[in-house]
Amino acid sequence: MRNEELLFEKSSAGRKAYSLPDLDVPAEKIEKLIPKELLRENLDLPELSEVDVIRHFTRLSQKNFGVDTGFYPLGSCTMKYNPKVNEEVAKLEGFTDIHPYQPAEEVQGILELLYNFEQYLCAVLGYDAFTFQPAAGAHGELTALLMIKAYHDDNLKLKSQNSKVRNKIIIPDSAHGTNPASVTMVGYEAVVVKSNGRGNIDIDALRKAAGEDTAGLMLTNPNTLGLFDEHIVEIAEIIHKAGGLLYYDGANANAILGYCRPADLGFDVAHFNLHKTFATPHGGGGPGSGPVGVNKKLEPFLPIPRVVKQGANFKLQTKNFKKSIGRVHSFHGNINVIVKAYAYLRSLGAKGLKEVSENAVLNANYVMNRLKEYYYLPYDRICQHEFVISAKWQKEKYGVKALDIAKRLLDYGFHPPTIYFPLIVEEAMMIEPTETESKETLDEFCDAMIKIAKECETDPEKVKNAPHTTPVRRLDETKAARELNLRWQPGA
Ligand SMILES: Cc1ncc(COP(=O)(O)O)c(C=O)c1O
Repeated sequence: MRNEELLFEKSSAGRKAYSLPDLDVPAEKIEKLIPKELLRENLDLPELSEVDVIRHFTRLSQKNFGVDTGFYPLGSCTMKYNPKVNEEVAKLEGFTDIHPYQPAEEVQGILELLYNFEQYLCAVLGYDAFTFQPAAGAHGELTALLMIKAYHDDNLKLKSQNSKVRNKIIIPDSAHGTNPASVTMVGYEAVVVKSNGRGNIDIDALRKAAGEDTAGLMLTNPNTLGLFDEHIVEIAEIIHKAGGLLYYDGANANAILGYCRPADLGFDVAHFNLHKTFATPHGGGGPGSGPVGVNKKLEPFLPIPRVVKQGANFKLQTKNFKKSIGRVHSFHGNINVIVKAYAYLRSLGAKGLKEVSENAVLNANYVMNRLKEYYYLPYDRICQHEFVISAKWQKEKYGVKALDIAKRLLDYGFHPPTIYFPLIVEEAMMIEPTETESKETLDEFCDAMIKIAKECETDPEKVKNAPHTTPVRRLDETKAARELNLRWQPGA
């Protein structure tokens, strides 16, 4: 495969990829407008023809793997197809050519959209209000924890001086890594509770952990094992009885839409990743959005400004929210992402949303059942939108690891699943097919996984040295993460 040179390396003096009309602003005028010290004679930019540039970027795009080119079962990430109509809607001038500093009367359209989207999300997920400011799931977690803290601080003011400060957040050992990180960022302490043999939270351990210093519990349900915690009602009772609040990490809500509302399960606050469940692009195609929903207990603490409706008009209100935690984002969040998610929700409607969850769960259970004969399945029960299998057998018998199987999948044209997460399953492979895949695609993927399981027996070295057909082979992932350097420097 050809080695793609950098544009700087391809550059040839005098080539250009543009044709502009002659400058019709007098030179003296430019000098007046732009101070001399800010003007440059030369810019060290590559010089190329238009066709050079087009071919370079087209070739690079062909080396990329995206959900538009193939099956992408990256567990916990919900790499579902992003319908193109959402992009068209977000490109409408009425959304792109406005500015957050414009007076409310000039931007009624977007304010109405934000207001309506809030109402829809409240209906689907059971909350009383939402903020759209958080720019990602982890940012939503931080926002929610700040509100939980503000709530407890507010309560403490009303109580006796001897009341205990609530400074601990309970999280299960299957939690996403951002959960303990967010807990630490707000100055709380994370208390980890183990999961039991069925993949649920261990209720006895939870009872022991909950107490008068508990600020709350963070839970993903279905959890990162793809399993719905069967004791959620009891869990909510334990935490509420201890005086804590329940936080729902709903980054990935693909299994519950139209079937179960986190607020009804007892979760006081929750975040949802629009860039997962609500089909907006993520990964390199971001940015994201992690709206946070709250019940009445936490509504006074929501970030400001909030969109309110007065008569037939919409406005942004900052006053009358004295307990608000303030702003967590400039302006109102990643508005363009919200518009795409709104378009997605409106195009599906209530029936379509239910079908999303039905098919996401059906697809995951189909793939799990086809693969469980070939890979170790630690929790053999009905899964939700994803499931976790393990390369434990392959490692013990042939020395082949989950990483090797993931790399070998690339040779078969599939993006690998998430590996080594959740941490409680050794050699974990977390598979999330999503609802947008056909049975044919799922079967092709299962056939490839089964073939690889057989290769582990017959030719383990082939799997250990995979991939064989990709533009680059095994990269030094640790170096890439720890010594990230994306800046080109001449002669470096
Ligand atoms: C369960 C869970 N929680 C939280 C997050 C964090 O979301 P983000 O990556 O948008 O910060 C993720 C993302 O992978 C997740 O899967």
